[in-house]
Amino acid sequence: MTDRVNDPVPDEAPKLKEYDGEGITVTFEPRRCLHAAECVRGLPAVFDLQKRPWVQPGEAAPSEVAEVVRRCPSGALRYHLADGAAEPPDDPTTVRRMPDGRLLLRGDLRVRTGSGERHEVRAVLCGCGASGNQPYCDHSGPCAGGDFDRAENR
Ligand code: SF4
Ligand code: FES
Repeated sequence: MTDRVNDPVPDEAPKLKEYDGEGITVTFEPRRCLHAAECVRGLPAVFDLQKRPWVQPGEAAPSEVAEVVRRCPSGALRYHLADGAAEPPDDPTTVRRMPDGRLLLRGDLRVRTGSGERHEVRAVLCGCGASGNQPYCDHSGPCAGGDFDRAENR
């Protein structure tokens, strides 16, 4: 018999928004965004909260957009290129625990969620149990207002 005690409760499939540019499509999962602002700092012409839609992939070269998307620690932002290339995972995979309990992961990840297993390349997992979007952190717990160490998250 399989032990499924630690499996999350079935949940809705994640809701992704898609933004098409020439040669690249960026996806955004709002519930995963932890407002690290790497995106708006990195390419303000592409990630502009004053515009609708707020992601304008056509405002920079696909390689530049991809490089900034890879800085998003939470994995809320992802991309795929028009030639079918997906984002390459970091190798080796790294895991770092923040003082507030969050776990920052980068690499070839399989994350077990309430809506099934997801293939990820970046994720911030909840370490306190308070998140309403388990297993991901949603800033509900003591992590609220916490920042990321930018240099270590690239
Ligand atoms: S870098 Fe990612 S987590 Fe940070 S604000 Fe942008 S989308 Fe949100
Ligand atoms: S660590 Fe952020 S909500 Fe739990």
